[in-house]
Parts: sequence; structure tokens; C-alpha cells
Amino acid sequence: MKFSLALGFAFILPLIRAQVPHWGPCLDPAVQTAFNLKQFMGRWFEIAKLPAQFEKGRCIETNFTLKTDNSIRVVSSEILKAELRKIEGTGVVEDIKNPAKLGISYSYVLPYSPYWILSTDYVNVALVYSCTDILRLFHVDFAWILGRTRSMPEATVQKAMDTFAKNNIDVSRMIPSKQQGCDKTL
Ligand SMILES: *[C@@H]1O[C@H](CO)[C@@H](O)[C@H](O)[C@H]1NC(C)=O
Repeated sequence: MKFSLALGFAFILPLIRAQVPHWGPCLDPAVQTAFNLKQFMGRWFEIAKLPAQFEKGRCIETNFTLKTDNSIRVVSSEILKAELRKIEGTGVVEDIKNPAKLGISYSYVLPYSPYWILSTDYVNVALVYSCTDILRLFHVDFAWILGRTRSMPEATVQKAMDTFAKNNIDVSRMIPSKQQGCDKTL
């Protein structure tokens, strides 16, 4: 018990520093209706994210693959200081009635973090949201705009931002992810 509490705080504290926490418990935004997990699989590039992390890697992408046991193999990669880094995690649909509400964990000692697909057309863009309650007093949240290609028309990005805002998710601090010069460096 002591161990998991310490571990929990070790992971929560950096989150608090990275993002101004919002008062109150997590919101419950609408997610993609009739979500088709199979169509969502494959390669997605990070186009923009919240919170702002200016010193993080670039060329961030994630490759989702459905495994035979219906869990999801999640391989994320980035280029940091001219080095390709990969981490592998596991995704699950936690409640079959809510297939767009995935959970992802990058280590077997960590619980699944929410990874909710708020909206996607499967072929161009996906809006992902993650929120964690802290003692029901406040919450920290994360949001991503993902694309099937490394660049996305500005209008599509704007529409995604509007969708987040309509769900009362504050994306004013969202920043574009660096996806330039990715394919030629490696
Ligand atoms: C994604 O993962 C699958 C299964 O591991 C692999 O076959 C495929 O080549 C990967 N795609 C990319 C772009 O890494």
C-alpha cells in the first residue's frame, strides 16, 4: 500500500507541474459514437498536444495494433536529441459498452490511464482526451490531436480545437507538435 501510494505520487507530481490543475473532478465529455476499434488501429502522428511541453521530443507517433486477446499493442516513438526512443504499452477497452474509452498503461506496475477517443474519422484525424481526478478536489487533463499524416490542414486543427472547447476542455495552451524533417533523419 505504501509502495503504490509513493509510486502514485511520483507520477502525479510531474503532471501537476506540467499543467495547471483545474478545480473539481474530471468532466465527462462525449466520446465517438459507434467507435470502431479496428479502424482506429495503425499509425497516428501527434499534431498538437496539451499541456505544452516545449523541451520534449519531436516526430512523436504511435502505432496501435490489435492483439489476438483483444488488447492493444501501443508503440510510441519520438526523436529526442537525435535519438529514436520507443516505449511500448498496452491498451484495453475497459467497458465494452463504452468502446471509445480506452485505457493505456506503459508499465505493468501502473494503472491504466484514460485514453478517450472524443472524435475520429479514422482516416484523417482523431481527438484524444485523458483526465485524472486527484482526491476528487481537482483534476489534470491531457488532450491530443492526432493525424494519419505528419501535417494537417489548419482548418482541421481549428475544428478539432473547437470540438474540445465545446466540451469545456481548455485548449488555449495547446501547442503544435514538431513533425518536420522526421523521415529523412532516420
Ligand atoms: C505497427 O506495428 C505492426 C505490428 O507490430 C507492424 O507490423 C507495423 O510495421 C508497425 N508500423 C509502423 C509504421 O511502425
